Amino acid sequence: LLAVPPLQLALKYFEMYPEERDPIWQNPCDHKRHLSIWSPNKTCEKLPNFLVIGPQKTGTTALYTFLGMHPAIESNFNSPDTFEEVQFFNGNNYYHGIDWYMEFFPTPKNTTSTYLFEKSATYFDNEVVPRRAFALLPRAKIICILINPSKRAYSWYQHMRSHEDPTALNYSFYDVITATDIDPRKLRELRNRCLNPGMYAQHLIRWLDYYPSRQLFIVDGEQLKNDPIHVMHTIQRFLHIDPYFDYSQFLRFDPKKGFFCQVISDDRNKCLGKSKGRAYPPMSKEEQLFLKQYYQRHNVALSKLLDKLNTEVPAWLEEELRGGD
Ligand code: A3P
Repeated sequence: LLAVPPLQLALKYFEMYPEERDPIWQNPCDHKRHLSIWSPNKTCEKLPNFLVIGPQKTGTTALYTFLGMHPAIESNFNSPDTFEEVQFFNGNNYYHGIDWYMEFFPTPKNTTSTYLFEKSATYFDNEVVPRRAFALLPRAKIICILINPSKRAYSWYQHMRSHEDPTALNYSFYDVITATDIDPRKLRELRNRCLNPGMYAQHLIRWLDYYPSRQLFIVDGEQLKNDPIHVMHTIQRFLHIDPYFDYSQFLRFDPKKGFFCQVISDDRNKCLGKSKGRAYPPMSKEEQLFLKQYYQRHNVALSKLLDKLNTEVPAWLEEELRGGD
């Protein structure tokens, strides 16, 4: 075996260890052996210090934008396919490898005082992401945002309608959330994208199988919407960011948008685009009731988990668990 050429040796290796065909990238600079064969032209500094993992429709773009305003924080460059999100750890991008991933980050001006991050809202509920993220970024901090899962489900449905997804246009929200396993595949897929990310506890537990709880920070998405200045303060404390950035000077409520926006000048704000903070009719009572019951046990599990983590239970969760409708 020692004498065979590299390609044959590799084929033999994967024949013997087929489970290792799926790569798992680690940080080359964390291992002497790897570092010694790592090209001197390469660096391990273009890796994020923290990740915003989603889930989708909880205010992730607002948080991404607000974080990017901080003088010590730098976000990833845009992707031609997935825009502000790199989506490396889920799906096929992972097979492009870590050089591909690092190309999305600037070389930090100062590695101890610049914080790199990326936000991919698809990470939160993806089965493989925590394991992959931890293998490459074991010291990274992880930020997720939680809103009432019923609202999140409805926001996703509305998002798909405005993207003219035929299934979302052809079926009511009630049809989608009550779809059964004998319904058409497209309808079941939409149901799953609406409902599954909102089973918050089970996804968080998967992250906690890898990351210690001190590296995880849970943002109350309702608070992010109503009081982003306070939320940005708590996030800076969690990240131990220096210098402290006083967001009260740079964010203000825009009555026309109905959300907080970036201050541009005395009389001008820069708000997120039309696709964020959409206007749509409220959920019907029937839909609300169905989702309340659907998420009941998941919300109970979340409240127990937050208790265990010594994390404040968000007001929306307390209200959900108080009963009534
Ligand atoms: P809706 O459009 O359903 O209201 P994401 O960026 O993760 O896709 O989340 C989109 C949601 O962010 C919006 O959902 C909106 O409610 C919420 N959001 C929170 N703060 C916001 C802000 N400052 N501007 C716009 N949308 C904000």
